Amino acid sequence: MIWDERYSESHYIYGTSPNDFLKEHLSELPKGKVLCLADGEGRNSVFLAENGFEVTAVDSSSVGLEKGKKLAQERGVVINHIHADLAEYDLGLDQWDAIVSIFCHVPPPIRGPLHQHIVKALKKGGVLLLEAYTPEQLKFGTGGPPDPALTMSATLLKQELTGLTIKHLEELERDVVEGTHHTGRGAVVQCIACKD
Ligand SMILES: C[S@@+](CC[C@H](N)C(=O)[O-])C[C@H]1O[C@@H](n2cnc3c(N)ncnc32)[C@H](O)[C@@H]1O
Repeated sequence: MIWDERYSESHYIYGTSPNDFLKEHLSELPKGKVLCLADGEGRNSVFLAENGFEVTAVDSSSVGLEKGKKLAQERGVVINHIHADLAEYDLGLDQWDAIVSIFCHVPPPIRGPLHQHIVKALKKGGVLLLEAYTPEQLKFGTGGPPDPALTMSATLLKQELTGLTIKHLEELERDVVEGTHHTGRGAVVQCIACKD
């Protein structure tokens, strides 16, 4: 499994600090139950738990999750880690105060249904916070998926997140310095959307 191989390096390949967009917009997430999709080595779930959220983290890489568990233990926080493929994981209905999706690049046949499951799984008033690479990222070569089909755009998110009210949606270039595998100029889309 490619992600298990990547995560088998001894260091945290995306670092142990949270994603910048999540950190900047933490106050926009309602306190309560939060689901971290494709959480990898745990930097974002640990940050959320440290800030008082009740966190569930899902990823298909057992190696990534083990590193996430170790990080949570070191930082003294409790996280519900779930080893699952997002193609099959049941997000539930009206379950989550917030869902966080950071660089969760899955193929379109998984992503479209996943985004509609997010809409259903958020509680009323619940918030989705998402950052992903756009197709423009391929020209930078500073991380992210090699296949443009796995990237996202503002237009695509508007379509796939039908049912949520978009509060913030922006494509931008920014310096992403988040571990050894995401370092340099990056082209991203950032989204905050709410279930009214
Ligand atoms: C670029 S990493 C981002 C990790 C983490 N969100 C972060 O920002 O540090 C992408 C993650 O997606 C996970 N992933 C990819 N496809 C998946 C799938 N179908 N189901 C669950 N997780 C998946 C990988 O295991 C990996 O941890």
